[in-house]
Amino acid sequence: MTSDLPKVELHLHLEGAAPPAFVRGLAKEKSIDLSGIFAGDGSYSYSDFWNFLQVYEAATSVLETPEDYARLTRVVLAESAAAGVVYSETFLSPDFCGGRDVAAWGEYLAAIREAADEAERDDGIVLRGIVTCIRHFGPEKAKETAICAAETAGDWLVGFGIAGDETAGAPKDFAWAFDAAREAGLRLTAHAGEWGGPHSVRDALDALRVERIGHGVRAIEDLALVDRLAEDGVVLEVCPGSNVALGVYPDWASHPIERFRERGVTVTVSTDDPPFFHTTMTNEYDRLADAFGWDEAVFVDLARTSAGAAFSPRAVEVLEAALAERGRLT
Ligand code: ADE
Ligand code: ZN
Repeated sequence: MTSDLPKVELHLHLEGAAPPAFVRGLAKEKSIDLSGIFAGDGSYSYSDFWNFLQVYEAATSVLETPEDYARLTRVVLAESAAAGVVYSETFLSPDFCGGRDVAAWGEYLAAIREAADEAERDDGIVLRGIVTCIRHFGPEKAKETAICAAETAGDWLVGFGIAGDETAGAPKDFAWAFDAAREAGLRLTAHAGEWGGPHSVRDALDALRVERIGHGVRAIEDLALVDRLAEDGVVLEVCPGSNVALGVYPDWASHPIERFRERGVTVTVSTDDPPFFHTTMTNEYDRLADAFGWDEAVFVDLARTSAGAAFSPRAVEVLEAALAERGRLT
Protein backbone atom coordinates (compact mmCIF):
# COMPACT_ATOMS: atom_id res chain seq x y z
CA MET A 1 0.00 0.00 0.00
CA THR A 2 1.60 3.27 -1.06
CA SER A 3 -0.28 5.21 1.67
CA ASP A 4 2.05 3.53 4.22
CA LEU A 5 5.24 4.56 2.46
CA PRO A 6 7.01 7.46 4.20
CA LYS A 7 6.95 10.46 1.87
CA VAL A 8 8.69 13.81 1.56
CA GLU A 9 6.85 16.68 -0.14
CA LEU A 10 8.71 19.80 -1.29
CA HIS A 11 6.11 21.78 -3.27
CA LEU A 12 2.85 22.59 -1.49
CA HIS A 13 1.04 25.95 -1.40
CA LEU A 14 -0.56 26.32 2.03
CA GLU A 15 -3.62 28.23 0.76
CA GLY A 16 -3.83 25.89 -2.23
CA ALA A 17 -4.05 22.94 0.14
CA ALA A 18 -7.15 24.33 1.89
CA PRO A 19 -9.99 21.80 1.60
CA PRO A 20 -13.08 23.41 0.02
CA ALA A 21 -15.21 22.49 3.06
CA PHE A 22 -12.74 24.34 5.31
CA VAL A 23 -12.91 27.45 3.10
CA ARG A 24 -16.72 27.25 2.96
CA GLY A 25 -16.83 26.97 6.76
CA LEU A 26 -14.68 30.07 7.26
CA ALA A 27 -16.69 31.98 4.63
CA LYS A 28 -19.89 31.14 6.50
CA GLU A 29 -18.44 32.24 9.85
CA LYS A 30 -17.44 35.56 8.29
CA SER A 31 -20.52 35.97 6.06
CA ILE A 32 -18.36 36.12 2.92
CA ASP A 33 -20.10 34.98 -0.27
CA LEU A 34 -17.83 32.59 -2.14
CA SER A 35 -20.52 30.54 -3.88
CA GLY A 36 -19.09 31.35 -7.33
CA ILE A 37 -15.90 29.34 -6.81
CA PHE A 38 -17.46 25.95 -6.06
CA ALA A 39 -18.93 23.29 -8.35
CA GLY A 40 -22.19 21.50 -7.57
CA ASP A 41 -20.33 18.66 -5.83
CA GLY A 42 -18.61 21.16 -3.48
CA SER A 43 -15.18 21.00 -5.13
CA TYR A 44 -13.36 24.07 -6.45
CA SER A 45 -14.44 25.09 -9.96
CA TYR A 46 -12.15 26.77 -12.50
CA SER A 47 -11.82 26.73 -16.28
CA ASP A 48 -8.07 27.04 -16.89
CA PHE A 49 -4.80 27.98 -15.12
CA TRP A 50 -5.50 31.71 -15.11
CA ASN A 51 -9.00 31.20 -13.73
CA PHE A 52 -7.50 28.74 -11.21
CA LEU A 53 -5.29 31.61 -9.93
CA GLN A 54 -8.39 33.82 -9.55
CA VAL A 55 -10.31 31.11 -7.69
CA TYR A 56 -7.23 30.47 -5.51
CA GLU A 57 -7.07 34.16 -4.56
CA ALA A 58 -10.83 34.30 -3.90
CA ALA A 59 -10.61 31.23 -1.60
CA THR A 60 -7.61 32.82 0.16
CA SER A 61 -9.66 35.96 0.92
CA VAL A 62 -11.37 34.13 3.84
CA LEU A 63 -7.99 33.65 5.56
CA GLU A 64 -7.87 36.95 7.41
CA THR A 65 -6.00 36.39 10.68
CA PRO A 66 -3.01 34.48 12.08
CA GLU A 67 -5.52 32.22 13.85
CA ASP A 68 -7.18 31.38 10.48
CA TYR A 69 -3.76 30.34 9.17
CA ALA A 70 -3.10 28.27 12.31
CA ARG A 71 -6.37 26.40 11.76
CA LEU A 72 -5.51 25.89 8.08
CA THR A 73 -2.06 24.56 8.95
CA ARG A 74 -3.55 21.92 11.30
CA VAL A 75 -6.09 20.78 8.70
CA VAL A 76 -3.49 20.60 5.91
CA LEU A 77 -0.91 18.72 8.00
CA ALA A 78 -3.49 16.18 9.17
CA GLU A 79 -4.27 15.44 5.48
CA SER A 80 -0.59 15.20 4.58
CA ALA A 81 0.20 12.92 7.53
CA ALA A 82 -2.72 10.65 6.53
CA ALA A 83 -1.03 10.26 3.12
CA GLY A 84 2.23 9.16 4.77
CA VAL A 85 4.07 12.48 4.47
CA VAL A 86 6.68 12.77 7.23
CA TYR A 87 8.36 15.99 6.08
CA SER A 88 6.81 18.82 4.08
CA GLU A 89 7.90 22.20 2.80
CA THR A 90 5.11 24.70 2.25
CA PHE A 91 4.98 27.97 0.34
CA LEU A 92 3.88 30.91 2.49
CA SER A 93 2.93 34.30 1.08
CA PRO A 94 3.43 37.54 3.03
CA ASP A 95 1.16 39.04 0.34
CA PHE A 96 -1.75 37.15 1.90
CA CYS A 97 -0.32 37.03 5.46
CA GLY A 98 -0.26 40.65 6.61
CA GLY A 99 0.05 42.49 3.28
CA ARG A 100 3.89 42.32 3.31
CA ASP A 101 4.16 44.26 6.57
CA VAL A 102 7.15 42.76 8.41
CA ALA A 103 5.59 42.91 11.90
CA ALA A 104 2.24 41.49 10.76
CA TRP A 105 4.00 38.78 8.75
CA GLY A 106 5.88 37.80 11.93
CA GLU A 107 2.56 37.23 13.69
CA TYR A 108 1.21 34.99 10.91
CA LEU A 109 4.48 33.06 10.82
CA ALA A 110 4.44 32.54 14.60
CA ALA A 111 0.86 31.18 14.44
CA ILE A 112 1.70 28.83 11.57
CA ARG A 113 4.81 27.57 13.37
CA GLU A 114 2.90 26.93 16.57
CA ALA A 115 0.31 24.90 14.64
CA ALA A 116 3.13 23.00 12.92
CA ASP A 117 4.74 22.21 16.28
CA GLU A 118 1.41 20.77 17.48
CA ALA A 119 1.12 18.64 14.33
CA GLU A 120 4.69 17.40 14.80
CA ARG A 121 3.82 16.29 18.35
CA ASP A 122 0.44 14.75 17.42
CA ASP A 123 0.96 13.38 13.90
CA GLY A 124 4.75 13.11 13.64
CA ILE A 125 4.94 15.31 10.54
CA VAL A 126 7.64 17.98 10.26
CA LEU A 127 6.90 21.23 8.39
CA ARG A 128 9.26 23.92 7.14
CA GLY A 129 8.42 27.15 5.29
CA ILE A 130 9.42 28.74 1.99
CA VAL A 131 8.33 32.34 1.45
CA THR A 132 7.04 32.85 -2.05
CA CYS A 133 6.52 36.07 -3.95
CA ILE A 134 3.83 36.17 -6.60
CA ARG A 135 4.95 36.95 -10.11
CA HIS A 136 1.84 38.70 -11.37
CA PHE A 137 1.89 41.04 -8.35
CA GLY A 138 5.12 42.50 -9.80
CA PRO A 139 8.77 43.06 -8.77
CA GLU A 140 8.15 45.89 -6.27
CA LYS A 141 5.89 43.70 -4.12
CA ALA A 142 8.40 40.87 -4.54
CA LYS A 143 11.09 43.10 -2.97
CA GLU A 144 8.89 43.73 0.08
CA THR A 145 8.16 40.01 0.25
CA ALA A 146 11.88 39.22 0.17
CA ILE A 147 12.45 41.65 3.05
CA CYS A 148 9.79 39.81 5.09
CA ALA A 149 11.54 36.54 4.25
CA ALA A 150 15.02 37.86 5.08
CA GLU A 151 13.82 39.20 8.45
CA THR A 152 12.48 35.78 9.45
CA ALA A 153 15.06 33.48 7.83
CA GLY A 154 16.32 30.71 10.07
CA ASP A 155 16.02 27.01 10.73
CA TRP A 156 12.23 27.04 10.18
CA LEU A 157 11.84 29.55 7.38
CA VAL A 158 14.35 27.97 5.05
CA GLY A 159 13.65 29.11 1.51
CA PHE A 160 12.46 31.74 -0.93
CA GLY A 161 10.64 31.27 -4.22
CA ILE A 162 8.29 32.69 -6.81
CA ALA A 163 4.88 31.40 -7.90
CA GLY A 164 1.94 32.84 -9.84
CA ASP A 165 1.47 33.63 -13.50
CA GLU A 166 4.62 32.54 -15.26
CA THR A 167 3.68 34.51 -18.37
CA ALA A 168 3.88 37.84 -16.45
CA GLY A 169 7.22 39.70 -16.52
CA ALA A 170 10.62 38.00 -16.68
CA PRO A 171 12.78 36.28 -14.04
CA LYS A 172 15.41 39.02 -14.22
CA ASP A 173 12.80 41.50 -12.89
CA PHE A 174 12.91 39.55 -9.62
CA ALA A 175 16.70 39.26 -9.29
CA TRP A 176 16.86 41.88 -6.49
CA ALA A 177 14.41 39.87 -4.37
CA PHE A 178 16.29 36.62 -4.93
CA ASP A 179 19.66 38.25 -4.18
CA ALA A 180 18.30 39.63 -0.89
CA ALA A 181 16.90 36.22 0.06
CA ARG A 182 20.19 34.49 -0.83
CA GLU A 183 22.15 36.97 1.27
CA ALA A 184 19.86 36.19 4.22
CA GLY A 185 20.87 32.53 3.93
CA LEU A 186 17.66 31.29 2.30
CA ARG A 187 17.72 28.46 -0.24
CA LEU A 188 16.07 29.24 -3.59
CA THR A 189 13.43 27.76 -5.88
CA ALA A 190 11.34 29.23 -8.73
CA HIS A 191 8.22 28.13 -10.58
CA ALA A 192 9.23 27.82 -14.24
CA GLY A 193 8.65 25.50 -17.17
CA GLU A 194 5.01 24.90 -16.28
CA TRP A 195 3.41 27.40 -18.70
CA GLY A 196 6.61 28.84 -20.16
CA GLY A 197 8.76 26.70 -22.45
CA PRO A 198 12.37 25.59 -21.87
CA HIS A 199 13.57 29.21 -22.12
CA SER A 200 11.64 30.01 -18.92
CA VAL A 201 13.64 27.36 -17.04
CA ARG A 202 16.94 28.67 -18.46
CA ASP A 203 15.99 32.24 -17.52
CA ALA A 204 15.11 31.23 -13.95
CA LEU A 205 18.43 29.39 -13.56
CA ASP A 206 20.50 32.21 -15.06
CA ALA A 207 18.75 35.25 -13.57
CA LEU A 208 17.72 33.91 -10.16
CA ARG A 209 20.42 31.26 -9.54
CA VAL A 210 17.96 28.82 -7.99
CA GLU A 211 18.85 25.27 -7.00
CA ARG A 212 15.34 23.88 -7.43
CA ILE A 213 12.69 24.51 -10.09
CA GLY A 214 8.98 24.27 -9.35
CA HIS A 215 7.58 22.05 -12.13
CA GLY A 216 10.26 22.59 -14.82
CA VAL A 217 8.62 19.87 -16.90
CA ARG A 218 8.59 21.84 -20.15
CA ALA A 219 12.40 21.56 -20.13
CA ILE A 220 11.81 18.16 -21.75
CA GLU A 221 11.32 20.03 -25.05
CA ASP A 222 15.06 20.85 -25.09
CA LEU A 223 17.37 17.92 -24.41
CA ALA A 224 20.47 20.13 -24.04
CA LEU A 225 18.67 21.82 -21.16
CA VAL A 226 17.70 18.44 -19.69
CA ASP A 227 21.37 17.49 -19.73
CA ARG A 228 22.29 20.79 -18.03
CA LEU A 229 19.74 20.05 -15.27
CA ALA A 230 21.24 16.59 -14.80
CA GLU A 231 24.86 17.78 -14.80
CA ASP A 232 24.24 20.70 -12.45
CA GLY A 233 22.09 18.64 -10.07
CA VAL A 234 19.12 21.01 -10.41
CA VAL A 235 16.15 19.50 -8.58
CA LEU A 236 12.71 19.45 -10.22
CA GLU A 237 9.70 19.73 -7.91
CA VAL A 238 7.42 17.75 -10.21
CA CYS A 239 3.66 17.83 -9.58
CA PRO A 240 2.23 15.41 -12.16
CA GLY A 241 -1.39 15.45 -10.91
CA SER A 242 -1.38 19.27 -11.04
CA ASN A 243 -0.01 19.22 -14.59
CA VAL A 244 -2.66 16.75 -15.76
CA ALA A 245 -5.52 18.57 -13.97
CA LEU A 246 -4.50 21.95 -15.44
CA GLY A 247 -3.94 20.50 -18.92
CA VAL A 248 -0.16 20.89 -19.27
CA TYR A 249 -0.31 17.19 -20.33
CA PRO A 250 -3.42 15.35 -21.48
CA ASP A 251 -2.88 12.29 -19.26
CA TRP A 252 -0.42 10.57 -16.91
CA ALA A 253 1.13 8.41 -19.62
CA SER A 254 2.19 11.56 -21.52
CA HIS A 255 3.85 13.13 -18.48
CA PRO A 256 7.66 13.45 -18.90
CA ILE A 257 8.66 12.59 -15.30
CA GLU A 258 9.97 9.15 -16.29
CA ARG A 259 11.97 10.60 -19.19
CA PHE A 260 13.65 13.09 -16.84
CA ARG A 261 14.57 10.25 -14.46
CA GLU A 262 15.97 8.12 -17.26
CA ARG A 263 18.19 11.03 -18.38
CA GLY A 264 19.61 11.50 -14.89
CA VAL A 265 17.65 14.54 -13.68
CA THR A 266 16.88 14.73 -9.95
CA VAL A 267 13.10 14.55 -9.73
CA THR A 268 10.86 14.81 -6.69
CA VAL A 269 7.06 14.47 -6.50
CA SER A 270 4.55 16.83 -4.86
CA THR A 271 0.87 17.74 -5.01
CA ASP A 272 1.06 21.58 -5.49
CA ASP A 273 -2.57 22.43 -4.50
CA PRO A 274 -4.08 19.02 -3.70
CA PRO A 275 -7.84 19.69 -3.33
CA PHE A 276 -7.85 21.86 -6.47
CA PHE A 277 -6.46 18.91 -8.42
CA HIS A 278 -8.34 16.13 -6.61
CA THR A 279 -5.10 14.59 -5.47
CA THR A 280 -3.04 13.54 -2.45
CA MET A 281 0.53 12.24 -2.16
CA THR A 282 -0.90 8.70 -2.04
CA ASN A 283 -2.82 9.35 -5.25
CA GLU A 284 0.34 10.71 -6.94
CA TYR A 285 2.19 7.53 -5.99
CA ASP A 286 -0.63 5.27 -7.15
CA ARG A 287 -0.95 7.02 -10.53
CA LEU A 288 2.86 6.88 -11.01
CA ALA A 289 2.79 3.17 -10.23
CA ASP A 290 -0.01 2.66 -12.80
CA ALA A 291 1.55 4.84 -15.52
CA PHE A 292 5.22 3.86 -15.21
CA GLY A 293 5.32 0.68 -13.14
CA TRP A 294 7.11 2.38 -10.23
CA ASP A 295 7.43 -0.05 -7.31
CA GLU A 296 8.32 0.25 -3.64
CA ALA A 297 12.07 0.40 -4.32
CA VAL A 298 11.56 3.35 -6.70
CA PHE A 299 9.37 5.14 -4.16
CA VAL A 300 11.87 4.65 -1.32
CA ASP A 301 14.59 5.99 -3.61
CA LEU A 302 12.32 8.92 -4.55
CA ALA A 303 11.69 9.77 -0.89
CA ARG A 304 15.43 9.67 -0.13
CA THR A 305 16.17 11.88 -3.13
CA SER A 306 13.48 14.32 -2.00
CA ALA A 307 14.82 14.41 1.56
CA GLY A 308 18.30 15.11 0.20
CA ALA A 309 16.90 18.00 -1.86
CA ALA A 310 14.98 19.49 1.07
CA PHE A 311 16.07 22.87 2.41
CA SER A 312 16.30 21.59 6.02
CA PRO A 313 18.51 18.76 7.29
CA ARG A 314 15.52 17.60 9.37
CA ALA A 315 14.09 15.93 6.24
CA VAL A 316 16.77 13.25 6.09
CA GLU A 317 16.57 12.57 9.85
CA VAL A 318 12.79 12.28 9.85
CA LEU A 319 12.63 10.15 6.71
CA GLU A 320 15.34 7.71 7.81
CA ALA A 321 13.64 7.32 11.22
CA ALA A 322 10.29 6.63 9.51
CA LEU A 323 11.79 4.13 7.06
CA ALA A 324 13.49 2.27 9.92
CA GLU A 325 10.34 2.28 12.04
CA ARG A 326 8.19 0.97 9.19
CA GLY A 327 10.80 -1.62 8.24
CA ARG A 328 11.40 -0.11 4.78
CA LEU A 329 15.13 0.14 4.38
CA THR A 330 15.46 -1.37 0.91
N1 ADE B 1 0.24 29.02 -7.22
C1 ADE B 1 -0.41 27.95 -6.75
N2 ADE B 1 -0.30 26.91 -7.60
C2 ADE B 1 0.45 27.34 -8.64
C3 ADE B 1 0.92 26.74 -9.82
N3 ADE B 1 0.65 25.48 -10.15
N4 ADE B 1 1.65 27.50 -10.68
C4 ADE B 1 1.92 28.78 -10.38
N5 ADE B 1 1.51 29.38 -9.26
C5 ADE B 1 0.79 28.67 -8.40
ZN1 ZN C 1 3.21 25.50 -7.32
